[in-house]
Amino acid sequence: MTNIVVLGSTNMDLVAYVPRAPERGETVTGREFRTTPGGKGANQAVAAARAGGDVVMIGAVGTDVFGPRLRAALESAGVETDLLHTTEGPSGTAHIVVDDAGDNAIVVIPGANGTLTALGPGEDTAIAAADTLLLQLELPLSVVVAGAAAARAHGVRTVLTPSPVRPLPPELLSCVDLLVPNQHEAEALTGHADPRAAADELLRLVPEVVITLGAAGSLHASRTTPPLTVPAPKVTAVDTTGAGDTFVGTLAVAVGEGRPVTEALAWASTAAALCVQKPGAAASMPYRQEIEAAS
Ligand code: RIB
Repeated sequence: MTNIVVLGSTNMDLVAYVPRAPERGETVTGREFRTTPGGKGANQAVAAARAGGDVVMIGAVGTDVFGPRLRAALESAGVETDLLHTTEGPSGTAHIVVDDAGDNAIVVIPGANGTLTALGPGEDTAIAAADTLLLQLELPLSVVVAGAAAARAHGVRTVLTPSPVRPLPPELLSCVDLLVPNQHEAEALTGHADPRAAADELLRLVPEVVITLGAAGSLHASRTTPPLTVPAPKVTAVDTTGAGDTFVGTLAVAVGEGRPVTEALAWASTAAALCVQKPGAAASMPYRQEIEAAS
């Protein structure tokens, strides 16, 4: 089994399902409201665990009513939570509008996630024992950099999802093995709307890139292999929240198991396609048997 550590956020997603997202200054009437566990870090942890990984979550929840529910959601997926700290104050929340096309707009309030600024000895030990460290950008940058540096020091492969997108400092990039932006994030980081051009630019910064292209699949590029695009299954999306996280968590398991890159990308795309057909982020992520059955 591949050992994965996720250093990342845990949020309660407060989701309004609406026919269409409101314009600035407009009020619209929605159809349904749900609270459902999310956060880019926790989502990747659940996706990896359900896909068959042995997963440890490093993060923080608050002392509000959401904290225990967020921890329980990770534990019920089989994620180890000994390093999920509880800090005084609110948990992270994500305020999400999902329209009838399944597309979303998200505001994240960091809450407890914002209190995790440095790593302790327990976190360093967990990272040292991992095959792969998964990072995103919903924790303070200082701890993301510290996690990447610890992984590099211990020879652990580091995968960064640059979301929410922001400029990436050299001390972080120098420790990243694989960068997985979506098309918008790749454009924001490089100025190139064309994914091939964006990938070429990103390969100047990191050795390997996967750009997720939504319904169009994903583009893989590395410094040593020719670029390749793997299509995604055609499905009808009801909620795309967490699809990118599903992709990354599943990809980490597939690569950790030694699957060839084309097969690993196809497996991750299949998992993401299954995720978007149900509402919610972590709740809609598929189990390994479901991915295998759909592949
Ligand atoms: O990537 C999706 C996630 O982004 C949601 O679950 C929400 O919590 C935000 O962090």
